[in-house]
This record gives sequence, C-alpha cells and structure tokens, in this order.
Amino acid sequence: MTQIISGREISDEIRSELKDQVAALKAEHGVTPGLATVLVGAEPASQMYVGMKNKAAHAMGIHSDQITLEADTSEDELLGVVEGLNSNPEIHGILVQLPLPDHIDEGKVLEAIDPLKDVDGFHPMSVGRLATGSGDFFAPCTPAGVVEMLVRSGNDPSGKHVVIVGRSNIVGKPAAALLMRKAPGGNATVTVAHSRTADLAAVTRSADILVVAMGRPEMITGDMVSEGTVVIDVGTNRVDDDTREKGYRVCGDVLFDEVKEKAAAISPVPGGVGPMTITMLLANTVKSASLRAGASV
Ligand code: GUN
Repeated sequence: MTQIISGREISDEIRSELKDQVAALKAEHGVTPGLATVLVGAEPASQMYVGMKNKAAHAMGIHSDQITLEADTSEDELLGVVEGLNSNPEIHGILVQLPLPDHIDEGKVLEAIDPLKDVDGFHPMSVGRLATGSGDFFAPCTPAGVVEMLVRSGNDPSGKHVVIVGRSNIVGKPAAALLMRKAPGGNATVTVAHSRTADLAAVTRSADILVVAMGRPEMITGDMVSEGTVVIDVGTNRVDDDTREKGYRVCGDVLFDEVKEKAAAISPVPGGVGPMTITMLLANTVKSASLRAGASV
C-alpha cells in the first residue's frame, strides 16, 4: 500500500505544538508573536495565500497585521513600509508576498527586511547562513515544510539520493541546501534537475526521494519514477475542468494517479505541501519571537 504523506495532518500536529509555545511565550514572557504580511496589488492567488497566512496566524494566537498596498505603490513607499515594520517592536516576522509588480526591485525589498524578522528566509543573510551552516537562520517555509514532511512521515532523507526538480530561489535551491546540511533532516545526496536537464526521466528514475517544484501541471508521469520512490509534490496548479462547478481543478506537478502506483509514499495536492508552507511561516514567527524574548526555541 502506498503511504499518503498528508501535509494537512502533519501541519495540524506542528500547529498544536506551536499553539502551546505561543501560550507559554505569553504566560512566561508576556510576549505575543507578531506577523506582518505585505501584499502589493490584488492578484487573486496572492490575495488568497496572504489571507490564509493571516487566518492561520490568528487561529494560533499570533498577532497578525495584513497590509495591502495598491498595485502602483512605488518602490520607495514599499521600502518605507518595510522600515516601519522593522522598527515596530510588536512585529517579529515580516513577509512581503511575491511576486511583486514589475516596477519594484524584488531583491532590494527583500534586502530591506531586518534579517532578525526575515521569517520567509529570503534575505541574502538568511540564504548565506543556510548555505554555509553558520549561525542561526530562518529556513524558507516551503522547503522547510518538505523536510518536516519527510522526517515526520518516517522517510528521513539522511543518506538517500534526493532529486529535486526545479531550481527556484523559493523552493529548489533552498531545498537542496537544507537537504544536504550536516544536520537532522539533511545529510542527503542531492541532485537538482530543471527544465534544461537532458533526459530528465533518467534523472528522476534515479531518485530515492523525488521533490518536484517545476510549476508545470502533472508533468511527472508514472514512467519517470522508479518503484519504491518517495515523492513530494510541491506544485499547485489550476487547470481548466468543465466537469467542476468552479470550472477548474487544482493539481500538482505530479500525475498523482499514475505515480501513486509506483511510489512507496507520495504527498497529495491539495493537502500536501501547501498547508506546510503556512505552518513553517508560523513556526518561524514563533521562533523569532522566542529568540527576542530570550526563551528557548
Ligand atoms: N510567493 C509564493 N510563495 C511565497 C512564499 O513562500 N513567500 C512569499 N513571500 N511569497 C511567495
């Protein structure tokens, strides 16, 4: 029987642990963790993600500020908002939802966030610390969620050949760095494949663990996976479907029904990595507040 790795269940487990930590921070240190999300424009998917992040924070007892700016907000205005949040003592985590409109330099905005409040893990300091293993850092939420899913489902990546399909700054690259770390949840042998990889199927078939983050609906088919592989599907895609009331369905980058037949374990979409990304954001916010309060993390 194929093991279904439910991000929803693992998420619930972690959120219940976090709820206790939030209560302890309040009771013992008088600190309420605070998260600020900044959304520029009204892109429906981004609006939905930011809404979900704030709702989840609230449910956990985390204070959350949702800042929504017009799509034509200037880079300077946005930098001003980030500066204000940097100096706000009630805010322990700042998330600027990506992508930003074309007229704003994403790198400049991410670098403006105080690294001590960088709960997204996208600041160059966080990226550098993750890569070098020096000092404390916030791990980017989606790859951190992937690692938690593997470990908590009994599929520890240590010593395994992990093939990551996708090389984005948000998922592929940090996932590779996390999985090859000399630390719990790491110690894997990592291959990063991408859209220009020659004979992608030969590479994906060589994986013990396959992490797919290409953003292409159902592109990993059954013939691309070996028997017994553990498959984590990071993709979230909307595809037209006239049989559904909404006119679309949500699917991953993996053709689930085919790949499930060969995989030892597989994460579904929805209900897989999605909830984990939000949970790791909450975990990073609680970690940031704990560090500030001098509490153990
Ligand atoms: N856009 C897509 N994923 C993410 C994420 O994890 N964080 C932010 N800030 N923007 C995103």
